[in-house]
Amino acid sequence: MTTTPSHSSIPSFGLGTFRLKDQAVIDSVTTALELGYRAIDTAQIYGNEAEVGQAIAGSGIARGDLFITTKIWTANLAAGHVIPSLKESLEKLRTAHVNLTLIHWPSPGGAVPLAETLGELMQAKAQGLTRRIGVSNFNIALLQEAIDAVGAANISTNQVELSPYLQNLKLVEFAKKQGIHITSYMTLAYGKVLQDPVLADIAKVHGVTSAQVAMAWAMQLGHAVIPSSTKRANLESNLKATLLTLSDPEMAQIAALERNGREVNPAGLAPAWD
Ligand SMILES: NC(=O)c1ccc[n+]([C@@H]2O[C@H](COP(=O)([O-])OP(=O)(O)OC[C@H]3O[C@@H](n4cnc5c(N)ncnc54)[C@H](OP(=O)(O)O)[C@@H]3O)[C@@H](O)[C@H]2O)c1
Repeated sequence: MTTTPSHSSIPSFGLGTFRLKDQAVIDSVTTALELGYRAIDTAQIYGNEAEVGQAIAGSGIARGDLFITTKIWTANLAAGHVIPSLKESLEKLRTAHVNLTLIHWPSPGGAVPLAETLGELMQAKAQGLTRRIGVSNFNIALLQEAIDAVGAANISTNQVELSPYLQNLKLVEFAKKQGIHITSYMTLAYGKVLQDPVLADIAKVHGVTSAQVAMAWAMQLGHAVIPSSTKRANLESNLKATLLTLSDPEMAQIAALERNGREVNPAGLAPAWD
């Protein structure tokens, strides 16, 4: 089973690498690639791009079969910094281009105008350093500002926290209208949704895990998911979420779990969420 990306869209399933460093990230990426994962999400601030690059190189998988995403850290958002920092990421990742480059968080306090960063990213795309560009942790107002700057067609995704407990309905509706894909991060709410009785009951009916139910729910809504794991068994079962189809009543049951359960809200970085 593989999740080979098409060239026009972003893959619906990939591997997250947040918090994973050194041998842990090498092992996670190596195992995931062995199991059939083909999309990998990293970021400059994760401090693991070199190890991700090492694991990819060791896998022997053709670059054209992989979809690699990185994210520009807030310190690198100004003109003159975006492209050099992206080139450094490419060197660490041992690749001539990434498939997707995201603005990791909006510039704190709006210090760097968004149009300036997006202009640099458009140049990076024109130079072939990245195939697509996008944003992360943007609220509706920032997404609108990005659309005004470069057009919705140039924004491949907004990667945001989204789980059964934090469904981000307003933002999702806005992005959908604009044709901007949502990537759900922390779809498992960092493990919290795994204790949920509604998800457990649905999982039982299908003979699957609660994690698979949460991921299948997000993918069935049209979102991409990027779960991380340090364990082969979890990596393997998470990938199988791509095979699960939930019924309309099950989707409705999960929709009712919304509770504004936000896990990630860093002071000084997070915008005013919708
Ligand atoms: N753009 C952003 O600002 C941003 C912020 C946060 C995250 N992200 C991205 O999104 C990715 C996913 O988020 P995340 O890694 O924080 O959280 P997550 O994928 O929701 O959860 C990861 C946690 O769940 C556990 N887990 C995974 N699969 C499991 C399973 N099948 N059963 C039981 N436990 C399981 C993992 O533990 P084990 O290792 O024990 O399996 C790990 O502790 C990140 O890696 C990163 O790439 C982006």
